[in-house]
This record gives sequence, C-alpha cells and structure tokens, in this order.
Amino acid sequence: MVRTKIKDILLGEKVDYQVIVKGWIRSFRNNQFIAINDGSCLDSIQAVISLDTEEQIIKKISNGASLSIKGTVVASLGKGQKVEIKVEDIEILGECSGDEYPLQLKNRPSLEFLREKAHLRFRTNAFGAVFRVRHSLAFAIHQFFHQRGFVYMHTPIITSSDAEGAGEMFRVTSLPFDNPPRNEDNSINFKEDFFGRSTNLTVSGQLEAELAAMALSEVYTFGPTFRAENSNTARHLAEFWMIEPEVAFNTLKENMDLAEDFIKYLIKFALENNRADLEFLATRLEEEEKQKPQNERSEMGLIEKLEFVLNNDFERITYTQAIDILLQSPAYKKKKFQYDVSWGIDMQSEHERYLVEKHFKKPVIVTNYPKSIKAFYMRQDDDCAQGRETVAAMDILAPGIGEIVGGSQREERLDKLEQRMKEMHIPTEEMYWYLDTRRFGTAPHAGFGLGFERMVLFVTGMTNIRDVIPFPRTPKNADF
Ligand code: 4AD
Ligand code: MG
Repeated sequence: MVRTKIKDILLGEKVDYQVIVKGWIRSFRNNQFIAINDGSCLDSIQAVISLDTEEQIIKKISNGASLSIKGTVVASLGKGQKVEIKVEDIEILGECSGDEYPLQLKNRPSLEFLREKAHLRFRTNAFGAVFRVRHSLAFAIHQFFHQRGFVYMHTPIITSSDAEGAGEMFRVTSLPFDNPPRNEDNSINFKEDFFGRSTNLTVSGQLEAELAAMALSEVYTFGPTFRAENSNTARHLAEFWMIEPEVAFNTLKENMDLAEDFIKYLIKFALENNRADLEFLATRLEEEEKQKPQNERSEMGLIEKLEFVLNNDFERITYTQAIDILLQSPAYKKKKFQYDVSWGIDMQSEHERYLVEKHFKKPVIVTNYPKSIKAFYMRQDDDCAQGRETVAAMDILAPGIGEIVGGSQREERLDKLEQRMKEMHIPTEEMYWYLDTRRFGTAPHAGFGLGFERMVLFVTGMTNIRDVIPFPRTPKNADF
C-alpha cells in the first residue's frame, strides 16, 4: 500500500477506506488523539489510537516524532474535522526526545526565536504556510510567462560585469588570500585567477537577458542574485531571487502593463490555490496588528488587501509628480520626514511609504526618474527641461513593502548609451558584447525586475524578509 497525503484525505471527505499516513506529530491528547502533519497542507489529521496500545509505543508518541500509521478513514465525531483515522497499526519512525526539542514550548514561539532555528521552523504552521505560498508563486511565475510565449533564460551566476553599476558585489576567486599573485604596481593579478579575470556573483541577469531578447523577443530570468550591500533591514537580503522579463519592442507603457498584469496574476493564483494558508496567515497578522498602537494598524486584513490590489488599477505618476505630492504633504510641512525632499533626491523608504500607504493607499508606479540616480542602461527621455534630465524608469511601490519592482525602457541608441557609460565610468571596451546589440539591429526594448522575496512578503503578510526565504543570507549571518 502506498502512502496517502493528508491533504488528499482531508479534501476527499470520503470514508471507510484504508490508508497509510506518514508524518510528524503535532500534538498528543488524552493518550488517544494524535495530530499528524505531513506538510501537504496546513491542517493536521487526527489519528485515534486504541486504548490498549502498548505502553512502549505510547511513550514514544511525542510532539515532533515521526511515525507511520495504517488505519481506516472514518467520519469524525470531534469538532474541527470531518474525517479522522482509526489507527490499526502504528510505527514510530523517529523519536523526538522531549526537553531538547526547541518547538516543545508551551507558548507559541516568536518569529525571532524561530529564525535561530531555521532548520526546524518548517514544522510550524506559519512557516509551512509561507513556504507553500512561496512555491505556488514560483510555479505561477513560470506559468504566467509560459502562457504568454516567453522563453525562460538561465543567465550566469558568476559574471564579470556589474549590471547595476552599484559595485556592491561578492567577489568569486580561487586565488589564495595570504599570497595572491601581484602585478608590478602591487595590485592583484586577476589574470592568474580561475577565469583569467576578476569575477563576482551576479547582481542581476538583465544584461544577458537583453541579449537574448534581441532574438527571442520575449524572455525572462528567475534566479538567485547577490548584493553585498550592508543594509540590515527587514526588506534586504544579500542573496535573493529575482524575476526579470525583457521584451523587445516594448515601450515604458507596455512594460508597466506587463508588470501590473504579472503581479495581479500572482496574487490571483495564490488566492485561488492557497486559500487555507492565506487565511491562517491573515489571522496571524491580525493578532500581530493588535499588538500595535491603533494609529499604526493597517486598515485592511491580508485577504482584503490582496483582493483590493487585484481589483484596482495601480496608480501611475511621474517622479516629478511624486516629489510635488511629497512637498505638498502635511508630513513634509510638519517636518515629519527624516530625510529632506527636493527634485533630484533618491526617495527614501519613508517617502515611498507615504505615497503608497498614506496618499494613494494602493500600489503606485513611479516613472521617469532623474537620470542621475538611475542605472546607465535606462533610456534617456527626450525633451527634458534643463537640469531635469530624466530616464524611462519605472518603480512599483507596494503598501507595506516599498519598492517591489524596478525596471525601465532600455537605451537602444548606441551613441546615447556609449556616452552615458563613459560619463558613469563604465568600461565600454569590456562591455562590447552589450553594445553590439545596439550596433547590430538595435530595437526598442524594456524590462523589469521583481524581487521574489518582496512579492512573497506582500502576499503572505509577513513583515520580515528573513521569514520568507528558507535560509536567509544577511550581513553577519550565513548559518545553515
Ligand atoms: O531595482 P533593482 O536593483 O533592479 C535591477 O536589478 C534591474 N536589473 C531589474 C531589471 O530591470 N531587469 O532590483 C529589482 C528588485 C527591486 O525592486 C526589489 O524588489 C528587489 O529586486 N531587490 C531586493 N530584494 C531583496 N533584497 C535586496 N537586497 C534587494 N535589492 C533589490
Ligand atoms: Mg531599484
């Protein structure tokens, strides 16, 4: 007989058939009722053992132990479940000795505590739900693009280029640290390194995706990216996953439409496929919100928020309009912002959150940012006022998260691109391959990057990015 997943038994509502169930014990009551969870769904199944079960076995039935049972699915008389299993055979596969088991606590463990126990936290309801939703979203991402005829492109993880030009990269080397080969001027001789040049972990697959889009028209990447920025916030990881579609012939407007459709598709997919998990997370969030002072609580519950975002257009404003709104805001006038506001600033998260959470109360797409604060590859806007040069950038800001998407129409004009790279000290000779696409059949194109963990944060209502990736990598932390 093969193992039946608990989800299938609970969904089925069928009775009077035999099953084998394997899983981990979540609780044991009255020497008779075992709650078993196998991760296939949020709910555990109740297994009822007979009162004459051997003492030897009873002793081993404890929270966290793994077991295999054989029994009959029967209608349940108890509250909270339609069916349960009348156990005929029980085998403890792995004992879980009581006191040392970190999840043995009487009170619900805090998320902070569980972060230290990331190897075991999958066993809690909250993390089971989060990681099932994360899986669903990853699946939905591929489905969304596949249905639209995009080609999934695997871009390199080790690279010699710096896509964002921000220089926050992890070096990849096989040179010895204590005595690396040196050039005459005492700098390190990377010609001797593994790849014969200096390499790093990628910060984005965009530049390579652009090359592919210049032939396949519609491509996307979905892979890990790495940033050595020292931002110890609830929104930053040093290793995170990013989805980067790149589309030939798309303008900024079409880029925004694609991003909005994409985000809504993911939300809809989760609402339709992860209802029980989302309802559990909604309740969790509600309890968390109750701890906050009244004026800091969010007005909507999790499900309500997701439905609201799904059913309403994102607001679309230019950077210039965004700055004007901030300058006119009561928050600015009452000097509530820590950072000053003026045209040209790189908006801080307090500014973004004001726009999204206080002013518009919905996701906002901000476009046409100042050229000076954006990457070299963004298309330069024509007809800008003197001193107010902008680029065809778009950031999507989400309630509770801030920036969730960053993207742009790309500079397809060789002369303008080359000039901008020179201004920003990006070596044009080394990047000849990128410039070649502009030399040989250049075409307008656009794309964006969605931070996967920020999307998972948004959908699950979790508040710390460390709680939506199995093993977070942050400054001074690479455990497990
Ligand atoms: O805005 P970013 O830096 O854009 C790019 O990398 C472009 N190459 C994307 C493109 O146009 N193809 O990053 C994109 C998104 C951000 O909006 C954010 O959601 C996420 O990636 N992100 C991070 N997520 C977690 N931790 C970090 N340190 C992140 N940095 C960016
Ligand atoms: Mg960005």
